[in-house]
Amino acid sequence: DASGRLYKQKVDELKEYMRWKCLNPVTQRKVLKYYELKYRGKYFEEGSLLNEMNESLRMEIAVHNCRELISKVSFLKREQHDGRDDLFAGCIATALQPCYYVPGDILFLQGEIGADMYFLLSGSLNVLISGKRVAQLKDGAFFGELALYANTPRTATVQAASSCIVYRLSRDSFNSILDMFDDVKKKVKAIYNERLEKLK
Ligand code: CMP
Repeated sequence: DASGRLYKQKVDELKEYMRWKCLNPVTQRKVLKYYELKYRGKYFEEGSLLNEMNESLRMEIAVHNCRELISKVSFLKREQHDGRDDLFAGCIATALQPCYYVPGDILFLQGEIGADMYFLLSGSLNVLISGKRVAQLKDGAFFGELALYANTPRTATVQAASSCIVYRLSRDSFNSILDMFDDVKKKVKAIYNERLEKLK
């Protein structure tokens, strides 16, 4: 079990590093929790494994990796079936970056300039405006689209209430997907209007 051994080695190195840096025990526990969530006991040099493959294989694997997210998030399901569903799935899957958060982690702060939007695969997140919780987001939710769509600072702070697996989509990918898929653009606009109404 090479990946299991490598994982153990990485965790040992991490513990040594945290002790050397004299990090407080709370932070040390958070970092270890983050590692468990991200690697689940196996460490792979994923970037270099994927880099050796061709585009087509990379896309096939990316779509496979995102299938659970795509099945959970209504935003990622197209209503208009014009023969471009595979293209859409490929564009989305290759653009999404998985991110991992442990309870208490801040994904971004109200007032920040936003560069990404997010999709929640698992866990729960609090949406806070001026320190007050206005919503709780659960599996399948998406957020952070307002700053991208309207080019405004973040309207709220988003903080992990539990361990979360989130996928991040950059502004450039968001814009090119909206340019390519008019039905998705309409959906974002409708959600934008709805959420904006609540913020008034
Ligand atoms: P953005 O303004 O980019 O960053 C904060 C995000 O919180 C915002 O996008 C929305 O996605 C989300 N958000 C803001 N207000 C609400 C709300 N009332 N309910 C759910 N999500 C919200």
